[in-house]
Parts: sequence; C-alpha cells; structure tokens
Amino acid sequence: MENFVLHNPVKLHFGKNVTKKLPATVREYGNRVLLVYGRGSIKQSGLYDQTVEQLTAAGIEVIPYGGIKSNPKIEDVREATIMGKEKDVTVIVAAGGGSVIDSAKAIAAGILYDGDPWDFFDGTAKPIAALPILTILTLAATGTEMNANAVIQNKEAGMKTALKNRHIYPVHSFLDPSYTLTVPADYTAYGIVDLMSHVLEQYFGKGDAPLSDQFAIAILQEGMEAGTALMENLNNYLLRARIMYASTMALNGLCSAGRKNGDWGVHAIGHVLSMLFDTPHGASLSIVYPAWLKLMRERIPDRLSELMFDLFKTADIDTGIYKLEHFFTSIGSPVSLKGTGIGKNKHTMILNQMIKNKVNGNHLSLTEDNYHTLIQLMQ
Ligand code: NZQ
Ligand code: ZN
Repeated sequence: MENFVLHNPVKLHFGKNVTKKLPATVREYGNRVLLVYGRGSIKQSGLYDQTVEQLTAAGIEVIPYGGIKSNPKIEDVREATIMGKEKDVTVIVAAGGGSVIDSAKAIAAGILYDGDPWDFFDGTAKPIAALPILTILTLAATGTEMNANAVIQNKEAGMKTALKNRHIYPVHSFLDPSYTLTVPADYTAYGIVDLMSHVLEQYFGKGDAPLSDQFAIAILQEGMEAGTALMENLNNYLLRARIMYASTMALNGLCSAGRKNGDWGVHAIGHVLSMLFDTPHGASLSIVYPAWLKLMRERIPDRLSELMFDLFKTADIDTGIYKLEHFFTSIGSPVSLKGTGIGKNKHTMILNQMIKNKVNGNHLSLTEDNYHTLIQLMQ
C-alpha cells in the first residue's frame, strides 16, 4: 500500500430540495455572485429562474454568465474571468454539468490572478487562491462536484487538459437528483461510462490497496446495475440518485487511497478525440476502454483477470472485455470510432495529436507503435 493523504473539504448536500439552503450558504461568502451556467438546460428546467429568485430575495446580487459549452473552451473562461473581476464578485455559483463546474473552477482561480487563466493549464502558473465555489450539479458523471480537478480545452494550443489544485475544490455542492431527471438518454449513458472509467483508471494505478479495490468494484457494480435500470426508466428518482451518488464517489479520493495516481491513459486518449471531433467525454471513453484493455491483455493479465472475476465472475479476460463492451453498447454509448462516424481517413490525424500530446499512462509509455495498435483496435 502506498502512503497517502486523504482530505476532501467539500461539503455535500444530497437529496430532494437541498438547494433551499443555497442563499444562506452563499451569503457566508459575500453578496455578489457570478452565476455560471451552460447553453440553456437550466433555463428550460426552471433551475435558472429559481436560483436567481432565491438569491435575489436574500439580498444577493446575481451576475449571470451563461453559454459554457461541452468540452469547455478557454475563451469562455477568459471572458467570464474578466466579467467577474469587473463586477467585483466575491463568490461563484456553478449550475450545470462538468463543463460548467470545471469552467467555474478556472474562473474562480482566474479572478484572483493577474495573468491568463490558461497559464494554470499549460503549467506556466499555479493557482495560489480561488474565490469560493458552490455547485448545483445537474448531470451525474464527472465527480467534479467533489474534487479539485478542472478540464479545459484550448483549440489554439491544440490541447484539452486538466488542472488539479487544492484551491479549486468547491466549498459546497448541492446534489438534488431531481435536477438530473431531464438529462437525455445519450448524456445519461455517457455519465455512467464516465463514472465507471474513473474507477477503472484508479484501479490501474500503482500499488496494492485491497479496500480501495473493493470500493472500486462496488461502484462499478452499482454503475452497471442502476445504470441498466435507469436507461429503461429515465424518470426514476431513486435510480437517478443512485447514479448521482456513485459518480460523486467515483472520483473524490475514495478509490485511490493507497495507490499512487491512477493510469489515466484512457482519459488522455479520450481528450484527444474530444479535442479533434468534439466527441462527448463519456462517449470517447467507451470507445477507448475496450481497445486499451485489449492492448493490456498480455501486459497485466493478472490484474485484468482479477477485475473480470470480481465484475463478471469470469477470469477469462476476453470474455470480460466482451461483457464490458456489451454493457456500454447496451446503454447506448459507442465502442468504436466508426460508431461515432470517425472513419479510417482520420487515423493519421488522431496519431499525430496523440504524439503531440505525449499521451501516456501508468502501465506503459505509449509509443508510436502502441498508438497505431490502439487506433486500429478503436476503429
Ligand atoms: O449546456 P447545457 O445547456 O447545460 O447542456 C448540457 C450539455 O449539453 C446538458 N445538461 C446538463 N445538465 C442537464 C443537461 N441537459 C438536460 N438536463 C440537465 N439536467 O448535458 C450536456 C453535457 O454537459 P457537460 O457538462 O458537458 O457534461 P459532463 O458533466 O459529462 O462534463 C464533461 C466535461 O467534464 C470533464 C470532461 O472532460 C468534459 O469536458 N471532466 C471533468 C472531470 C473533473 N473535473 O474531475 C473529470 C472527468 O474525467 C472529465 O474529464
Ligand atoms: Zn472522465
């Protein structure tokens, strides 16, 4: 077991109507809030009006910044950062999915920084402070509501990359599963894939951590069981709640304690696909994972057999991979490049981007040969 520090400062409020406590909680951090949101889902659901009304009634000035896109772009972060500085906001409320919350994290650090927020992502600078961030999660997937990561895309730099920094943990996250009832089938499925992928990435990190393995298996089983049922009944509150809780626990430190890092090679390749083709994050992972597992078959057979046995009661790796692939397909997430309309004519482009990003992971430094093989396996 590797040494570890386990410290998660996020206060989670989970269940129906938990956002009632939002105004009083926001007031602890000041009375001018930047409300960050996406391209309209919170307006359609009524969450936007409800939040603005609640906060305004409590004497809090709301400065809205909407339009954050999926696979969020640095341009929006820069614009919102300038707005936040000009309006002298003291606290950020992010209402949406991972893209909105990740952007809010970068904005919160950017407001207290003199330079370009992209500096945090290309390693030029480290955030040394951030405004307090409160989140209202509307899509169960990324775990960003309870972690210190933000993933932002910069087309100009040709990168989609993550910042991990303790200052960007949300201070409070409000998780009312009712808000996820409107998530359409495709993004519901991508969220399930994402939460399972987070657990798998950590499972393939360095070091033996048997209890963390058991947490991982439990979350994977919950993802598959509740996920299968949810795809049949998208309006079911309890199933939405189970997936929401599972996705939060999948990437908040619980599954990585006792291990160094994770693998994260699959995510790195997924980010390449999202950068090039705007592939939704979860869809990129269900394309890459089966290929990655096939590539790993010969390299880490014992670990793969253990996983497949715990998950599918088979030690046969190929059967296990087939079952996982079948699960992804059954919920409607693609398992091949061609499944999302990416043809063989894009292989060189993908390869070049993987080389440029120096994509790698714990289990191998991916070489050009490996890249080739993976791309073939993904096709
Ligand atoms: O923009 P709006 O109108 O809000 O619509 C969104 C968007 O179109 C919609 N949506 C969200 N909540 C909804 C809803 N539609 C109906 N009803 C609701 N309640 O769903 C679409 C996708 O939203 P997005 O936020 O992009 O999805 P997700 O939560 O999957 O976030 C993906 C981003 O998070 C990053 C990914 O790379 C990607 O950029 N990740 C962040 C991580 C982290 N911070 O720890 C870890 C992950 O591995 C991941 O990399
Ligand atoms: Zn992910």
